[in-house]
Amino acid sequence: MIDFSPSEQQKAFQKTARDFAQKEIAPVALKYDQDPAFPAEIIKKAHAVGLMNLTCPKEYAGQGLGLLDAAIISEEMNAACVAISGMIGINSLACGPILAGGSDAQKKRFLIPLNQSGKTASFGLTEREAGSDAGGLKTRAKLEGDHYVLNGQKCFITNASYAALYSIFATIDPSRGTKGICGFIVPRESPGLSIGKVEDKMGQRSLNVAEVILENVVVPRENRLGNEGEGFKFAMEALDEGRVNIATVGLGLARAAFEAALAYAKTRVQFGKPIGTFQALNFMLADMAAAVESSRLLTWYAASLADQHKRYTREAAQAKFYATDTAMRVTTDAVQIHGGYGYTKEYLVEKLMRDAKLTQIYEGTNQVNRMVAGGALMR
Ligand code: CAA
Repeated sequence: MIDFSPSEQQKAFQKTARDFAQKEIAPVALKYDQDPAFPAEIIKKAHAVGLMNLTCPKEYAGQGLGLLDAAIISEEMNAACVAISGMIGINSLACGPILAGGSDAQKKRFLIPLNQSGKTASFGLTEREAGSDAGGLKTRAKLEGDHYVLNGQKCFITNASYAALYSIFATIDPSRGTKGICGFIVPRESPGLSIGKVEDKMGQRSLNVAEVILENVVVPRENRLGNEGEGFKFAMEALDEGRVNIATVGLGLARAAFEAALAYAKTRVQFGKPIGTFQALNFMLADMAAAVESSRLLTWYAASLADQHKRYTREAAQAKFYATDTAMRVTTDAVQIHGGYGYTKEYLVEKLMRDAKLTQIYEGTNQVNRMVAGGALMR
């Protein structure tokens, strides 16, 4: 028998996350959207109640949860505000390559202080000329004795302005393609590391996204993850988990939009009846509910494979593109159900629709995620 109900412990995690999100995040979501800022106090509180560093093992001062537990928590957080939740959750992607390829000594040295302090980190892969084609990155790492010298520029880096450390990917030889890429742990205070342009975005306004500039940044050899040329694999492994997390972003957004649309459709009266009773809108609501629930099942399935230590690259990609396409469709329909009011900033659904667009783009565009899933099907 397949049982889709969360365990008692998972229900407790869900309640903690829901209570926190509804008390600390939801009431300020519109304010942060209108006036973007680093949600330092909210991050501090999330850290204090154990809602950060969810899947990082306890021995490295994380919460030691499975990915399915984390997905259940993350849906609640994202239903309140995906931008603020993104800033709380970013360490899972940023530290993913360290967990995938780092030595025990590196994990102890870098993850324990980060996780204990409640500080945040960033994942530095993307460049102006290397977005979908991440293997084509140009940031150079040159070995000089006992250290590497890094030169290049990263863009669209989530949380770049506030990170205490970065997982940076650079190549020792661009002619080797993905096999020339190395992963490095680069502390914020490294001389030569600076923050460039901060992006002014359509949605997810308080999610900090900026350039990271590396000018002759000296990184000790012992900060390299694994062997030379293994970095791309560690980035991809981190993105497998990251894509499940982004599926929960889509899921949280879609659920919030659906709930807002349903409540509105029950109370808004036109032609003497609640508008949700008209078949055109009633069918829309049914489709929205089905899409939200199927997104959750795909997401939980991918997460459960990860928890069983099975390869889940295809399922993570499928959950990501399906849940985030759902978020775009459901938030758009939620605006439609609200009519003219939905297009105004007075109603939450306007923000949700803008926030949803980014989910189809980051952590691999949905075209790239279809490439990943389709490629796996053909192998
Ligand atoms: N796990 C383990 N290994 C993997 C892997 C995975 N998921 N995916 C690929 N690899 C390995 C492959 O097996 C291959 O190894 P071998 O050569 O030994 O067989 C190697 O990595 C190279 O793989 P590919 O040949 O498939 O590489 P590619 O150059 O064709 O690229 C790609 C594949 C899927 C398109 C990849 O470039 C990609 O994912 N692009 C999108 C990048 C992306 O998602 N960026 C997001 C940035 S972060 C962000 O947006 C987050 C944020 O700020 C919130």
